[in-house]
Amino acid sequence: MIVDAKQLLQQYGSPLYLYDEECLENKCKRIKQFETSLKERLSGNIAVSMHYAIKANSNLSILEIVKKNGLKVDCMSPLELEINKKCGFKKNEILYVCNNISAEEMKAVIDEGILICLDSISQVETCGKVCPGTKIMVRINPGTVGVGHSQKVVTSGKATKFGISEDNLQQLFDTATKYDLHIIGTHQHLGSLFLNDKISDYIAGVKAGLDIVKKYFKDVEIVDLGGGFGVPYEPREEELTLSYVQNELIPVLNGFIEEYPSVKEFKFEPGRYIPCEAGDLLGTVMATKYENGIWWIGTDIGMGTIPRPSMYDSYHEIIVPDSEGELVTANFCGNVCESGDILGKERKVKLPKVGDLVVVHNAGAYGYSMASNYTGRLRPAEVMVMHGDGNCQLIRRRETIDDLIGLMM
Ligand SMILES: Cc1ncc(COP(=O)(O)O)c(C=O)c1O
Repeated sequence: MIVDAKQLLQQYGSPLYLYDEECLENKCKRIKQFETSLKERLSGNIAVSMHYAIKANSNLSILEIVKKNGLKVDCMSPLELEINKKCGFKKNEILYVCNNISAEEMKAVIDEGILICLDSISQVETCGKVCPGTKIMVRINPGTVGVGHSQKVVTSGKATKFGISEDNLQQLFDTATKYDLHIIGTHQHLGSLFLNDKISDYIAGVKAGLDIVKKYFKDVEIVDLGGGFGVPYEPREEELTLSYVQNELIPVLNGFIEEYPSVKEFKFEPGRYIPCEAGDLLGTVMATKYENGIWWIGTDIGMGTIPRPSMYDSYHEIIVPDSEGELVTANFCGNVCESGDILGKERKVKLPKVGDLVVVHNAGAYGYSMASNYTGRLRPAEVMVMHGDGNCQLIRRRETIDDLIGLMM
């Protein structure tokens, strides 16, 4: 996309999330293509559904593109559900994959006719008390090591809070029977962000989950394999090849279909893969200093604006496109009073000046959606560069101090 980034910062404030509609559309199309060709290659008439996990980025304008491209959605809170409904997704296109929610929230979702996926026996018990006789999905923990870019996003194996492990399945079935709950589907999500070098770990996790379904579950119709499809953040990483993932999945899923004839549908929940590369975060250099043998580039992009680097030590490519300075090694940091407020460590860059533009790449997923107001910083505006005419459209305004003060009594 070609835009005048500095002009956008003047118009909408710095920092600013900027999305490329064409890139988003392309990523949606790739996921749709994955769905279509997987369905064609599966034996029998098995449905395949791709539910975009909106936790990655829940901006309504982004969801509209997801919807236009024929994808469904997965959500996990009343607000996310409301955004999906506002976008026009039908009940049967929405999945509610939650954990540790109240009986009221659970009942409201079920009363709306939305399929819910529960992740503990305790939550199944709650569901049974408020909505006996309901059809539910349950999240299993396949027990394998899981996949993920950080220990904090590995969601399978012994060290995770998620799912019901093999050892507890009998208790799950007893609880479901007690309340006449019908387990029509299983769910597993191994973790977030695998690339080509981890496809075999992903497949091992899929196999482990399917083995559990075959061994313990009677006649489920839906098997949900979650998300985790990664994108490269570092220059040395390569793009995930969806056709490789599919080639490895086909024999495993076809083997399962043969042995488990009640299965009617496989679901997937890609999140990051769709919006990540379409988003840049623009900001401004506020200060530079040389201290203790390294340059520090202070920006207005704090850990509240994009928490991933401080939270997971995640790498994001950072560029200072207009800088003409000498080549230096620098740490980029934000404007929050925390030592952990680091955006990028030991980067080789041309030393920028105060006022220069800073661009953080691959900020479209788990960027704005994880942002906070910590230390009283306002969440930025979001702008989309439209496919075709290249117009820049405001898709969420910047917060104001009044917005936030207004919440207090
Ligand atoms: C249940 C569930 N499904 C899907 C996703 C999406 O994962 P990703 O963005 O890695 O594709 C997540 C992410 O945390 C998740 O918890």
